Amino acid sequence: MKTEIDQIKKNIESFYIKTHQDVEKFRIEFIGKKKGIIPFLLKKLKYLSIENRKIYGQILNDLKVQVNKKIQSFDFKKKSSYYTHQCKKSFDTTIPGKYSEIGSLHPLSILKNRMIDIFSNIGYSYVDGFEIEDDWHNFTALNIPFDHPSRDMHDTFFLCENKNVLMRTHTSSVQIRYMKQNKPPLKILSIGKVYRNETISSRSNFMFHQAEGFYIDKKVSFSDLKKTIHYMIDSILGNIKIRFRPSYFPFTEPSAEIDIFYNNEWLEIMGCGMIDPEVLNNVHINSEMYSGFAFGIGLERLALIIYNIKDLRIYFDNDIRFLSQFRSELY
Ligand code: DAH
Repeated sequence: MKTEIDQIKKNIESFYIKTHQDVEKFRIEFIGKKKGIIPFLLKKLKYLSIENRKIYGQILNDLKVQVNKKIQSFDFKKKSSYYTHQCKKSFDTTIPGKYSEIGSLHPLSILKNRMIDIFSNIGYSYVDGFEIEDDWHNFTALNIPFDHPSRDMHDTFFLCENKNVLMRTHTSSVQIRYMKQNKPPLKILSIGKVYRNETISSRSNFMFHQAEGFYIDKKVSFSDLKKTIHYMIDSILGNIKIRFRPSYFPFTEPSAEIDIFYNNEWLEIMGCGMIDPEVLNNVHINSEMYSGFAFGIGLERLALIIYNIKDLRIYFDNDIRFLSQFRSELY
């Protein structure tokens, strides 16, 4: 049986198929119900020992699969060349196009693209991070040790029992990933989804988008940070009053939160600060030589203000009445 099978395998491989008739011949010769060699041998299996029956049964079935694949690949090639031929024949570039409705970008994508643009104007490169992170990049390297109370602010989704793998709770992990692999000067913007185990309401969700920016070089100062934040808010929200309020983040020192004056009240919109030298040391950047600032901002919140939206659940309802309002903004 073995030599017979080896021969069949060779015959399948070398069978030259050019036309539909060849396909039919090929099919009948190998898997045709009446004359096909494979069904014939499958019938003979019952004369073999149980062990051999299993072995050869498997081999013959694999051959059948191989035959079918060869038939399908011929069909596919044929069809695609048929369609290209048809297209060539009937495509007239002078006929005006039919009107079809153009979709629109999601407001959060519009804002994301706008931010990338705003920051690329002042020399920032855009990078993507990972949504699944490990403890070190999301917490420890950012000066948030295991027993640190600030971990409580990030109600974390863990992906395995030892709590090492998790959905990132903020985009600050991108700082660590990028600084580990690149030497200053660095001017980076990253935007993406972050996850926290929070109850869904008009003001919070278990998933939201953050933009993270950081700049590291010799002699970067807090006034550079202030200028950059003013430039960003000005570019996105226009002329609006803002204030820096002292705050605390484990990975920046000093840290600040930024409020904007909106609807007659101060509204907190983002966090920022000078990167803590300990964080630079963690990624082997010489903190005596380099300094830097970082900031993080939630896109959903910001878009609420830009578009005067009242409830952030609407972003992910997929309601066409909401989404189609952004059609004119082809950013
Ligand atoms: N990662 C912080 C958060 O999610 C936001 C943040 C604050 C980012 C200060 C920064 C920063 O880069 O400097 O709450």
